[in-house]
Amino acid sequence: MIPNEFIDELLNKTDIVDIIDDFVPLKKRGANYMACCPFHKEKSASFSVSPTKQFYHCFGCGAHGSAIGFIMEYQGLNFVEAVQLLADRVGMPVPKQHDDAHTQTQQKQRKQQQQTLTQTMATATDFYRQQLKLSATALCYLQNRGLSDEIINHYELGYAPDHWQALSQVFQPYPSQALINSGMVIDKETKCYDRFRDRVMFPIHDIRGQVIGFGGRIIGQGEPKYLNSPETPLFDKGRQLYGLYQARSAIKETGRVLVVEGYMDVVALAQFGIGYAVAALGTATTADHIHLLMRQSNDIYFCFDGDQAGRKAAWRALENALPQLKDGKTLHFLFLPPEHDPDSFVRAQGAAVFEEALLHQSLALSQYFWQTLTEKIPLNTQEGKAELIKNASQLINQIKAPALAFLLRQELSDKVGIDEYNLAQLMGQETPKRSVRQKDYHLPRQTFRQPAMMSLVQKQIRALLINPQWAVYIDLPEYLDLHGDYACLAALAECIQASAAPLNCGAVLELMRNTEFEPVIQQIIHDYLDSPELLQTDNEEDCMTFKQGMQKLLDSLKSQQIDALKRKLQDKVLSADEKQLLLRLLSPS
Ligand code: CTP
Ligand code: MN
Repeated sequence: MIPNEFIDELLNKTDIVDIIDDFVPLKKRGANYMACCPFHKEKSASFSVSPTKQFYHCFGCGAHGSAIGFIMEYQGLNFVEAVQLLADRVGMPVPKQHDDAHTQTQQKQRKQQQQTLTQTMATATDFYRQQLKLSATALCYLQNRGLSDEIINHYELGYAPDHWQALSQVFQPYPSQALINSGMVIDKETKCYDRFRDRVMFPIHDIRGQVIGFGGRIIGQGEPKYLNSPETPLFDKGRQLYGLYQARSAIKETGRVLVVEGYMDVVALAQFGIGYAVAALGTATTADHIHLLMRQSNDIYFCFDGDQAGRKAAWRALENALPQLKDGKTLHFLFLPPEHDPDSFVRAQGAAVFEEALLHQSLALSQYFWQTLTEKIPLNTQEGKAELIKNASQLINQIKAPALAFLLRQELSDKVGIDEYNLAQLMGQETPKRSVRQKDYHLPRQTFRQPAMMSLVQKQIRALLINPQWAVYIDLPEYLDLHGDYACLAALAECIQASAAPLNCGAVLELMRNTEFEPVIQQIIHDYLDSPELLQTDNEEDCMTFKQGMQKLLDSLKSQQIDALKRKLQDKVLSADEKQLLLRLLSPS
């Protein structure tokens, strides 16, 4: 068995919208996402995915489940394979099946360790912010770079004092394992000392706003100009973008996200009112970055430094983006004059000129693609054309977005003067193989819904699945004889109440997987979750209905049992236990 804690953590780190969107492009409708159902043939969208409930459901055919369930159904994988696939995506090693207890403790320890590290980073951030207020030199440096107090606060900039062990002022003991593991303190055999000294500090936040690392800039001239936190259990450079946490609302507002190279570029642009910029952290833009960016917005702009290194970085970003591209998402590249980076450019020209350039002078990915590929190749020779086919097809073959790949092939065909059919042959395999086998289209298990009336207990189960937080209103005394659907409701309530963290619908379904109640639950969702409104029931009125429902259930359970006991009493005597139960049932609660 894979431990429940692992499944919980996995589902927590996985976004069902993201998973499903990779296979079935989703459109946002209100709080949910919709698409045509991949599990049955339909013309209008009745397949819905709820980000808050982490649950998908088709109102047409009744298919439903968590992210794990989706992968199982869609890819035709078994439970363990689906868990493995999702765990690989987020980089979690799946615990071996035999050492349950051991991995569980390991996982608990890991979580605890992460919490300690997060706490360490938070304390260090506060300390550096305090120290900035005390350092005239550091403040002066930031002011000279044009930053206001507001922006300094918004990005929580700080200052690491010029001492070997400044952090010992707020961390006792010094050093500690947490200080060393978080990369804040360097542990040499002979001595321990702060990694960051006499530097302006840029905290790096994850998407939830927790500080996971720092970048520190030297004040004035010197080497290295920037010093960054090392990779730690919290800090994975290839998956994090500097400034994304602060940029989110501006990204939503403007509908675009801008990727730049440096910390100062992000902060300076924000100072000029361009709040939607983020930076990769001293690394190339990775495929994970692109994936993260595409989740934020449909329009992604890259603006790197105008120098040779900036050009190289842009092309690397394009290469890493190709396999991630989706039709409907567009990438643009803005190249600044060689002497500029976004920071210096926006200072020299102002925000209006910068945004004007961004929107009207940047190259679409396809333009940049052809421009770069044909730059050094003479297209008037056979050899040149052959080389272009080779270079371009290597790249185009990585693209999974069907429309874009088609258009680029068409363009290539025009450029080299070979018709598309022959070109396709020359380019070899047209689409890359999927890494996982995909199940053929299959019909839903049942195409027709049960028309039967829903019982109250079924309604309560349905409501509880959609709103697991209502489990607190369920109190079914043990002395009641709970069977069938009642037992299912009680088991659901018990497992939700037993969980330390709040559970969403997807997580509850996973907890009930392979239990005796799974079929009951499946049936209820399949047959009775038949309209989207049912998913929007977390208001007070519905909650009241649920509570009243529980009271009615309790009353009816009691009276059923009283009747049964009374009937028995007519035929024969009751046992002592039965008598006691009857008395208990008859006494007002
Ligand atoms: N960088 C780094 N380590 C270095 C130099 C650079 O990690 N030794 C990263 C930093 O994220 C930096 C980015 O690369 O922000 C861009 O570097 P650079 O263009 O040299 O710095 P600027 O952002 O222009 O910094 P400043 O304007 O403060 O000079
Ligand atoms: Mn700069």
